[in-house]
Amino acid sequence: MSINIGVLLSGSGTTLENLLGYIARGELDGAIQCVVSSRKDAFGLERARRNAIPAIAVPKKEYGDWQAFNDAIWRELDAYNLDLIVLAGFMSKLAVPEKFVNRIMNVHPALIPAFCGKGMYGHHVHEAVIDYGAKISGVTVHFVDEEYDHGPIILQECVPVLDTDTPDSLAERVQAKERELYPKAIQLFAEGRLRVDGRKVYVL
Ligand code: GAR
Repeated sequence: MSINIGVLLSGSGTTLENLLGYIARGELDGAIQCVVSSRKDAFGLERARRNAIPAIAVPKKEYGDWQAFNDAIWRELDAYNLDLIVLAGFMSKLAVPEKFVNRIMNVHPALIPAFCGKGMYGHHVHEAVIDYGAKISGVTVHFVDEEYDHGPIILQECVPVLDTDTPDSLAERVQAKERELYPKAIQLFAEGRLRVDGRKVYVL
Protein backbone atom coordinates (compact mmCIF):
# COMPACT_ATOMS: atom_id res chain seq x y z
CA MET A 1 0.00 0.00 0.00
CA SER A 2 1.29 3.48 -0.77
CA ILE A 3 1.38 5.66 2.33
CA ASN A 4 1.18 9.42 2.79
CA ILE A 5 4.27 10.71 4.55
CA GLY A 6 4.90 14.04 6.26
CA VAL A 7 8.54 14.99 6.84
CA LEU A 8 9.83 17.17 9.69
CA LEU A 9 13.34 18.60 9.48
CA SER A 10 15.58 21.40 10.71
CA GLY A 11 18.61 21.24 8.44
CA SER A 12 20.12 20.34 5.11
CA GLY A 13 17.65 17.62 4.18
CA THR A 14 20.00 14.90 2.92
CA THR A 15 17.73 12.39 4.66
CA LEU A 16 14.75 13.81 2.74
CA GLU A 17 16.69 13.64 -0.54
CA ASN A 18 17.55 9.99 0.08
CA LEU A 19 13.88 9.10 0.69
CA LEU A 20 12.84 10.95 -2.46
CA GLY A 21 15.35 8.84 -4.40
CA TYR A 22 13.89 5.60 -3.03
CA ILE A 23 10.36 6.76 -3.90
CA ALA A 24 11.40 7.83 -7.43
CA ARG A 25 13.03 4.44 -8.05
CA GLY A 26 9.87 2.65 -6.89
CA GLU A 27 11.67 1.16 -3.86
CA LEU A 28 9.46 2.87 -1.28
CA ASP A 29 5.67 2.76 -1.52
CA GLY A 30 4.95 6.26 -0.30
CA ALA A 31 4.45 9.86 -1.28
CA ILE A 32 5.80 12.81 0.67
CA GLN A 33 2.85 15.15 1.08
CA CYS A 34 4.54 17.99 2.97
CA VAL A 35 7.82 19.06 4.53
CA VAL A 36 7.71 21.14 7.71
CA SER A 37 10.86 22.78 9.07
CA SER A 38 11.58 24.24 12.50
CA ARG A 39 13.95 26.71 10.81
CA LYS A 40 13.13 29.18 8.04
CA ASP A 41 16.58 28.85 6.45
CA ALA A 42 16.76 25.02 6.37
CA PHE A 43 18.01 23.86 2.97
CA GLY A 44 15.62 20.92 3.29
CA LEU A 45 12.77 23.35 2.49
CA GLU A 46 14.49 24.25 -0.78
CA ARG A 47 14.87 20.56 -1.64
CA ALA A 48 11.13 20.10 -1.03
CA ARG A 49 10.25 23.04 -3.32
CA ARG A 50 12.49 21.65 -6.07
CA ASN A 51 10.43 18.45 -5.88
CA ALA A 52 7.09 20.33 -5.92
CA ILE A 53 6.33 19.30 -2.34
CA PRO A 54 4.63 21.85 -0.05
CA ALA A 55 7.44 23.34 2.08
CA ILE A 56 6.32 24.96 5.32
CA ALA A 57 8.43 26.79 7.90
CA VAL A 58 7.30 26.83 11.52
CA PRO A 59 10.27 28.70 13.04
CA LYS A 60 10.72 27.53 16.60
CA LYS A 61 12.18 30.83 17.76
CA GLU A 62 9.01 32.69 16.76
CA TYR A 63 6.96 30.76 19.33
CA GLY A 64 6.80 31.61 23.00
CA ASP A 65 6.92 28.09 24.33
CA TRP A 66 7.24 24.45 23.36
CA GLN A 67 3.48 23.82 23.43
CA ALA A 68 2.70 26.75 21.13
CA PHE A 69 5.43 25.62 18.72
CA ASN A 70 4.08 22.06 18.71
CA ASP A 71 0.50 23.22 18.23
CA ALA A 72 1.64 25.16 15.16
CA ILE A 73 3.51 22.12 13.76
CA TRP A 74 0.47 19.88 14.18
CA ARG A 75 -1.87 22.50 12.66
CA GLU A 76 0.24 22.24 9.51
CA LEU A 77 0.51 18.43 9.55
CA ASP A 78 -3.20 17.98 10.21
CA ALA A 79 -3.99 19.70 6.91
CA TYR A 80 -2.73 16.54 5.17
CA ASN A 81 -4.06 13.06 5.40
CA LEU A 82 -0.88 11.48 6.74
CA ASP A 83 -0.22 7.85 7.58
CA LEU A 84 3.31 8.39 8.89
CA ILE A 85 5.48 11.28 10.06
CA VAL A 86 9.20 10.91 9.39
CA LEU A 87 11.76 12.95 11.33
CA ALA A 88 14.65 13.77 9.03
CA GLY A 89 17.13 15.73 11.11
CA PHE A 90 14.40 17.41 13.19
CA MET A 91 16.18 18.95 16.15
CA SER A 92 13.30 19.51 18.56
CA LYS A 93 11.19 17.52 20.91
CA LEU A 94 7.86 16.69 19.31
CA ALA A 95 4.48 16.37 21.02
CA VAL A 96 2.90 13.02 20.09
CA PRO A 97 -0.90 13.14 19.79
CA GLU A 98 -2.68 9.88 20.64
CA LYS A 99 -3.55 9.14 17.01
CA PHE A 100 0.13 9.32 16.01
CA VAL A 101 1.49 6.97 18.66
CA ASN A 102 3.70 4.48 16.73
CA ARG A 103 3.16 6.48 13.55
CA ILE A 104 6.17 8.82 13.87
CA MET A 105 9.69 7.58 13.09
CA ASN A 106 13.13 8.95 13.81
CA VAL A 107 16.62 7.90 12.80
CA HIS A 108 19.43 8.35 15.30
CA PRO A 109 23.10 8.08 14.26
CA ALA A 110 24.18 5.78 17.13
CA LEU A 111 23.06 2.64 18.94
CA ILE A 112 20.28 3.76 21.32
CA PRO A 113 20.32 3.79 24.38
CA ALA A 114 24.00 4.85 24.04
CA PHE A 115 25.04 8.30 22.87
CA CYS A 116 21.53 9.73 22.63
CA GLY A 117 19.23 12.16 24.38
CA LYS A 118 19.13 15.93 24.62
CA GLY A 119 21.98 17.66 22.80
CA MET A 120 23.07 14.41 21.12
CA TYR A 121 22.56 15.08 17.45
CA GLY A 122 24.67 15.15 14.31
CA HIS A 123 28.36 15.66 15.00
CA HIS A 124 28.01 15.75 18.77
CA VAL A 125 27.12 12.07 18.63
CA HIS A 126 30.16 10.99 16.62
CA GLU A 127 32.52 13.11 18.74
CA ALA A 128 31.13 11.51 21.90
CA VAL A 129 31.48 7.99 20.48
CA ILE A 130 35.14 8.57 19.51
CA ASP A 131 36.00 10.35 22.78
CA TYR A 132 34.51 7.48 24.77
CA GLY A 133 36.65 4.95 22.90
CA ALA A 134 33.69 2.87 21.73
CA LYS A 135 34.59 0.21 19.17
CA ILE A 136 31.20 0.13 17.46
CA SER A 137 28.53 2.67 16.65
CA GLY A 138 25.58 2.40 14.32
CA VAL A 139 22.11 3.48 13.34
CA THR A 140 18.80 3.19 15.17
CA VAL A 141 15.38 3.70 13.60
CA HIS A 142 12.68 4.01 16.25
CA PHE A 143 9.16 5.17 16.86
CA VAL A 144 8.97 8.54 18.55
CA ASP A 145 7.55 9.19 21.99
CA GLU A 146 7.81 12.37 24.03
CA GLU A 147 11.32 11.65 25.32
CA TYR A 148 14.38 12.28 23.16
CA ASP A 149 15.53 9.15 21.26
CA HIS A 150 13.44 6.89 23.45
CA GLY A 151 10.51 5.16 21.71
CA PRO A 152 10.37 1.49 20.58
CA ILE A 153 13.28 0.42 18.36
CA ILE A 154 12.33 -0.75 14.86
CA LEU A 155 15.69 -1.52 13.24
CA GLN A 156 19.25 -1.19 14.45
CA GLU A 157 22.57 -1.96 12.78
CA CYS A 158 26.17 -1.36 13.75
CA VAL A 159 29.24 0.00 12.02
CA PRO A 160 32.84 -0.28 13.27
CA VAL A 161 34.66 2.66 14.85
CA LEU A 162 38.23 2.68 13.51
CA ASP A 163 41.31 3.92 15.40
CA THR A 164 41.89 6.42 12.61
CA ASP A 165 38.32 7.81 12.65
CA THR A 166 37.50 11.49 12.91
CA PRO A 167 33.92 12.59 13.61
CA ASP A 168 33.62 13.25 9.86
CA SER A 169 34.79 9.83 8.72
CA LEU A 170 32.60 8.08 11.29
CA ALA A 171 29.61 10.24 10.28
CA GLU A 172 30.11 9.18 6.68
CA ARG A 173 30.06 5.47 7.57
CA VAL A 174 27.02 5.89 9.83
CA GLN A 175 25.12 7.96 7.27
CA ALA A 176 25.74 5.38 4.54
CA LYS A 177 24.04 2.86 6.85
CA GLU A 178 21.19 5.35 7.58
CA ARG A 179 20.52 5.69 3.87
CA GLU A 180 19.68 1.95 3.73
CA LEU A 181 18.03 1.42 7.09
CA TYR A 182 15.57 4.33 7.22
CA PRO A 183 13.83 3.58 3.90
CA LYS A 184 13.77 -0.11 4.87
CA ALA A 185 11.92 0.66 8.13
CA ILE A 186 9.47 2.96 6.33
CA GLN A 187 8.79 0.30 3.69
CA LEU A 188 8.09 -2.27 6.44
CA PHE A 189 5.57 0.20 7.92
CA ALA A 190 4.00 0.73 4.47
CA GLU A 191 3.61 -3.04 4.08
CA GLY A 192 1.91 -3.25 7.49
CA ARG A 193 4.69 -5.49 8.78
CA LEU A 194 5.49 -3.72 12.06
CA ARG A 195 3.67 -4.86 15.18
CA VAL A 196 4.34 -2.94 18.38
CA ASP A 197 3.88 -4.50 21.79
CA GLY A 198 5.06 -2.15 24.54
CA ARG A 199 8.71 -1.41 23.83
CA LYS A 200 9.07 -4.28 21.40
CA VAL A 201 8.61 -3.98 17.67
CA TYR A 202 8.13 -7.24 15.80
CA VAL A 203 8.86 -7.37 12.07
CA LEU A 204 6.27 -9.70 10.55
C1 GAR B 1 21.17 12.59 10.21
O1 GAR B 1 22.46 12.07 10.18
C2 GAR B 1 20.43 12.03 11.42
O2 GAR B 1 20.90 10.81 11.84
C3 GAR B 1 20.74 13.05 12.48
O3 GAR B 1 20.78 14.27 11.80
C4 GAR B 1 21.21 14.08 10.47
C5 GAR B 1 20.30 14.85 9.56
O4 GAR B 1 20.91 15.17 8.37
N1 GAR B 1 19.69 13.00 13.46
C6 GAR B 1 19.92 13.10 14.77
O5 GAR B 1 21.03 13.30 15.24
C7 GAR B 1 18.68 12.96 15.64
N2 GAR B 1 19.03 12.87 17.03
P1 GAR B 1 20.09 16.02 7.27
O6 GAR B 1 19.61 17.29 7.95
O7 GAR B 1 21.06 16.32 6.18
O8 GAR B 1 18.96 15.16 6.80
